Amino acid sequence: MSGNTFGVLFKVTTFGESHGKALGAVIDGCPPNLDLGEADIQAELYRRKPGAHKASTSRKEEDRVEILSGVFEGKTTGTPIALLIHNTDADSRDYEQLRDVFRPGQGDFTYLKKYGIRDHRGGGRASGRETAARVAAGSIARKLLAREGIEVVGCTVELGGIAIERYSRTDIAGNRLLCPDPGAAKRMEQKLEEARGGGDSLGGIVEVRVTGCPAGLGEPVFDKIDADLAKALMSIGTVKGVEIGAGFEAARMKGSECNDPIGPGGFKTNHAGGTLAGIATGQEMIIRAACKPIPSIDLEQETVDVQGNPQKISIRGRHDACVIPRVIPVCEAMVCLVIADHLLRQRTIR
Ligand SMILES: Cc1cc2nc3c(=O)[nH]c(=O)nc-3n(C[C@H](O)[C@H](O)[C@H](O)COP(=O)(O)O)c2cc1C
Repeated sequence: MSGNTFGVLFKVTTFGESHGKALGAVIDGCPPNLDLGEADIQAELYRRKPGAHKASTSRKEEDRVEILSGVFEGKTTGTPIALLIHNTDADSRDYEQLRDVFRPGQGDFTYLKKYGIRDHRGGGRASGRETAARVAAGSIARKLLAREGIEVVGCTVELGGIAIERYSRTDIAGNRLLCPDPGAAKRMEQKLEEARGGGDSLGGIVEVRVTGCPAGLGEPVFDKIDADLAKALMSIGTVKGVEIGAGFEAARMKGSECNDPIGPGGFKTNHAGGTLAGIATGQEMIIRAACKPIPSIDLEQETVDVQGNPQKISIRGRHDACVIPRVIPVCEAMVCLVIADHLLRQRTIR
C-alpha cells in the first residue's frame, strides 16, 4: 500500500529522506553466492553523486554505502541485504525559508495534501536524493545480470531540445553528459551553460539499452516487461514519459513499416524495442525516459504559501541545472531491477 517497495521476487524497499540521518534500501530475494562488496555498490553511487559533474548541485554528499546484512565473506547469503547511506552534507538552513511555501514543479503541495505533514528540507522523501538508494540496490541487480551476460547501458539522446544525430556506444564514456554523439554533446553543453547563466534549467531524454536479455522474460498480462519498465522509469521523480522501441513514432508509422520482419536468422528490424506482447524477443531492448527540467531555478516564480497567500520565490539553494547526467545511473538501476526480477520469475517456470 505504501508504495515504497518494488519488484516481485527481487524485491527492493527504499527508505529515507533528503535531510534525515540516512537513507538506504533492503533487498529481499537476491540469490545466494553472488560476489558482492561495498566497492561494487560504491562505484555505481559515484556515478550518481552530485559534484561529479559540472552541471550538478554543489551539495557534497559522501554517498558512502555500508552493507549491514545479507553478505558473508564477500558473497550474498540469500537473506535480506540492508544497505545504509548516511546523509553527511545535509545543510537544511537553505530550506528554512521554504518551510511554508510550495515550490512550483515539486512535490511540496501534493505531499502536504496527502499526509497533512511534510518534511520540507530538500524535498524530503520526494528528493532526487532518494535515488541513491535505488542506484545502490540496482548495482546488486546489475551483478546478477552480468553473471547471465546481460548488460544495461544508458546515455543522453537529447538535452535542451538538441538531439543526437548518431549513436556510437564507444563515445558514451568520452564526455561528461554520457552522450553517444560527441558533436551533439558539445552543443548540449553550450545550451546548458546558457540556461544555467540565465538562472534556468533544462530537460532531456535518457535512452537505456539492454543487451543479452534472453527471449521469454516478461509475464502476461499486467506484468508485461514493457509495462514494468515503464513503471520503473516513471517512478523516478523527473520522468514524464517513457517510450519503448519506436515509441510514440510507432503511432505515425504504417503496419508495413512498424512490424519487424522475421527471417531464418531472426528479426530484421527492431521497432518493437525488444518486446512483443510484453515478453522479451531476445533482441536489444531500447527504452527512453523523458526528463523534465529541474524545478529548482534561480528565476523568480509565482506560488502560494500554505495559507494560500500569493508569494514570489526564487530557489537559490544547491541544485542542478539539468537532471542529466545524474539521472542516467538511476534509469539504469531501475532497468536492472526489472530485468533481474523477471529473470528470477522466469526461472520459476523453466
Ligand atoms: C537524480 C535526481 C536529482 C535531482 N535533483 C534535483 C535538484 O537538485 N533540484 C530539484 O529541484 N529537483 C531535483 N530532482 C527532481 C525532483 O526530485 C522531481 O522533479 C520532483 O520530486 C517532482 O517530481 P516529478 O518531476 O516526478 O513530478 C532530481 C531528480 C533526480 C532523479
